[in-house]
Amino acid sequence: MTSVPRWDYVGEGLVEEQLPTVPWPLVQSWVEQAAAMVATRPDLHEPTSMAIATVDEGGRPDVRECLMRFLSPVGPGFVSSRHSAKAAHIAATGVLATSLTWSPLFRAIRFRGPAVEIAQDEVDAYWGERPWGSRISAWASRQSHPVAGRTELEAAVARYAAQWPDRGGPDDVPIPPDWVGYRVVAEQVEFWSGRSSRLHDRFRFVREGAGDMATVGIWTWRRLQP
Ligand SMILES: Cc1cc2nc3c(=O)[nH]c(=O)nc-3n(C[C@H](O)[C@H](O)[C@H](O)COP(=O)(O)O)c2cc1C
Repeated sequence: MTSVPRWDYVGEGLVEEQLPTVPWPLVQSWVEQAAAMVATRPDLHEPTSMAIATVDEGGRPDVRECLMRFLSPVGPGFVSSRHSAKAAHIAATGVLATSLTWSPLFRAIRFRGPAVEIAQDEVDAYWGERPWGSRISAWASRQSHPVAGRTELEAAVARYAAQWPDRGGPDDVPIPPDWVGYRVVAEQVEFWSGRSSRLHDRFRFVREGAGDMATVGIWTWRRLQP
């Protein structure tokens, strides 16, 4: 492999005194800080991009990036297609893991837990916020299925664009029937903060009872070796 320059991770670190008793305030503040820095940090593009890990029915892992579109104390969520591999994996196993990594900030958060579908009204509301072109592309794509060529995709886009022209409204294009939102119901949440000479800080929160990331009294945490 081509060698790349070694980068020392000179993050702020994370120590016991900074840890809340439940993960939610820290999840919220790290996500908000990363999102707020986009305007001033060109190295921090797509701060809501997260790796989505699934397991297929044969136990083989798979991973891909999706943009975080929902975040609540229950866990982070994203939208996708029921035609995708991830949808088949979730239907087969019911579990998800995801991680958000902000390399320029030397920070990452990992979540593990059951997968749930996001309520249709939330997904509908998000659909209306998408640019018209992205809504048309969603109709033109049967996600993760082979296609003969790009021309076929572009012809499908032209067909749907003629059917539902851009009138500047959130309901110009109906929501496709395969459009779905998934959320990781956080059972484990790990905060990683990169430190110099690879002696990083890691804290894993584990949920021991019913509730969400803001529920007091159900979370325990341990510092993990880097
Ligand atoms: C930065 C980035 C963001 C992406 N966001 C999404 C997304 O929000 N939803 C989605 O379905 N695919 C998204 N994709 C495409 C997925 O990574 C993937 O190719 C697609 O969902 C099919 O995956 P699957 O067949 O393994 O389920 C994104 C890709 C990248 C690189």
